Amino acid sequence: MREFVKAHPDTPGGLVGFPTIGEFVASLKLPRKIIILVQAGPATDAVVEQLTPHLDEGDIIIDGGNAKWTDTIRRERDLKNSGLRFVGSGVSGGEVGARFGPSLMPGGDPEAWEHLQPIWQAIAAKVDPDTGRPLEGAKPGKPVRGGFPCSAYIGPNGAGHYVKMIHNGIEYGDMQMICEAYLLMKNLLGMEASAIGMVFQDWNRGRLDSFLIEITADILQQADPITGQAFVDIVLDTAGQKGTGKWTSVNALDMGVPAPTIAEAVFARCLSAIKEERVAASGMLKGPQAKFDGDADSFIQALNDALYCSKICSYAQGFQLMREAQKEYDWDLNFGEIAQIWRGGCIIRARFLQKITEACSWDPDLANLLLDPYFLQEIESAQVNWRKVVSAAFAHGIPVPTFASALSYFDGYREARLPANLLQAQRDFFGAHSYERVDQPRGKFYHLDWPDPDRPQCQV
Ligand code: 6PG
Repeated sequence: MREFVKAHPDTPGGLVGFPTIGEFVASLKLPRKIIILVQAGPATDAVVEQLTPHLDEGDIIIDGGNAKWTDTIRRERDLKNSGLRFVGSGVSGGEVGARFGPSLMPGGDPEAWEHLQPIWQAIAAKVDPDTGRPLEGAKPGKPVRGGFPCSAYIGPNGAGHYVKMIHNGIEYGDMQMICEAYLLMKNLLGMEASAIGMVFQDWNRGRLDSFLIEITADILQQADPITGQAFVDIVLDTAGQKGTGKWTSVNALDMGVPAPTIAEAVFARCLSAIKEERVAASGMLKGPQAKFDGDADSFIQALNDALYCSKICSYAQGFQLMREAQKEYDWDLNFGEIAQIWRGGCIIRARFLQKITEACSWDPDLANLLLDPYFLQEIESAQVNWRKVVSAAFAHGIPVPTFASALSYFDGYREARLPANLLQAQRDFFGAHSYERVDQPRGKFYHLDWPDPDRPQCQV
C-alpha cells in the first residue's frame, strides 16, 4: 500500500492509504460513504464483512461491482437489519469511464442516495440535455461541469444492479451483431480488416454512431506490433465472458420474457469457446460453396440496415425484461431516464439511445419499442435489406445468430396467429395439458378425449 501511494504522487486529489480497515474507516466523516469495487461474488461479501464491525448506524456501503441483483437485494436487507445502508450501483465505462466519467446506475436505500447523489452526479459522464450528445472535455479528477449527468436513482434494493445487468446483456448483443457484420464483409465480400474498418468508420458518422462501432473501426485498422499483420487476424477466436449476459438470459427464461437475440449473443460466445471441436468439425461438415455475385456496395448498405434493425430488436428485448422485472420486484423504473444515462460514459453509449429516450418519454407505457412510431418507420424502410442479409448469410453458410434471431423475433412479434395452436393440441394429446379455444373467453381450459394412437381401430 505504501509503495503504491508513493508511486502515484500526482493522482488528482491526492491518494491516501491506510494500513488497516479500522484506520481507514475511522478517517471518514459520518455518515461514512464507502465505495467498494472488487470482483462480484464472495469477494464483495468478504469486504462487507470486514467493514461492518467498524461502521456506525447510518453509514453507507456502495458496491460498484458487477454484482448479481439478487445478491444486492440480500446484502441490502441484511445490512438494513444491522442499521447500515447499502447501495448497489451499476458502473459502466471501462478504463476510460473510470478516468473521464462513467455511467452510474445506483439502486438501494433512497435516503442513502441523497448522500451519494452530489458525488455520483459530479463524477458521472455528462450529456447535452436536449440532444443527448456526450459532453467532452473531462480530465482525470476534473469532471465536466453542467450537462445532464449520466447517473440517476434507479430504484430500491437490487434495481441498479439489475439495470446494469440488462445494459451488459444489450452490450453482448451489440458486440455480436458487429461481429456478424464483420464476418459477412470478411467471408462473403472477401474484404481485408482495414477496409472493413473504414466501413465502420463511415457507419459511425450516421445513425449507428456509437462507442462500440467507433472502437471496432479502430481495432480493425490496428496492426499487430509483432507480425505487422492486421491485429484482429492474430487474435484467437474464442470469446470469454464473466456472466452478466448469461444472467440476463437465465432471467429472461425465468420470467418467460422472449429475449432470444441477447441469449444468442451469449451462445455465440459459448460456440466460439469450443475451438478444438469446431476445427475438427470444419474438416467434416460441408456447407454451400457458391461465391457472392451481388453488388458489394449495396450489400454493405444492406448490412447497415440489418445491424440497425437487429439492434432495435435487441434493445426492445432488454427493455421488455426491465418492464417485467419491475413488476416482479415492485420497482418503478423510469425507462426514458435509463436510456438517457446510457447516452454517455457507458459501453453501449450511442446516438440511437436518444431515440429510445424520446420514445419512452412520449409514451412511458409503450408496450414494446417496436411499436414506437420512429422505430416502426425505421424497420419498415430497412427490413427488405435486413431480410436480404439474413438470406444471403444462410445461402452462403455464414452464421448470423443475432441478425437471424432478431428477425425471427420481429416476425414472431408481428404475427397475430402463431403455430402455438398446434403445439397446445400436441400437449393436450400426449399429456392432457389442456388448451384454450378461439371461440371462448381467455382463461377457460378444455381437454379433448383423444383417440388412443396405439389402437387405430378405436378411432372414430
Ligand atoms: C461496462 C462493462 C463491464 C464488463 C465488461 C466485460 O459496462 O463497463 O459491461 O462491466 O465487465 O464488458 O464483460 P464480459 O467479460 O462478460 O464480456
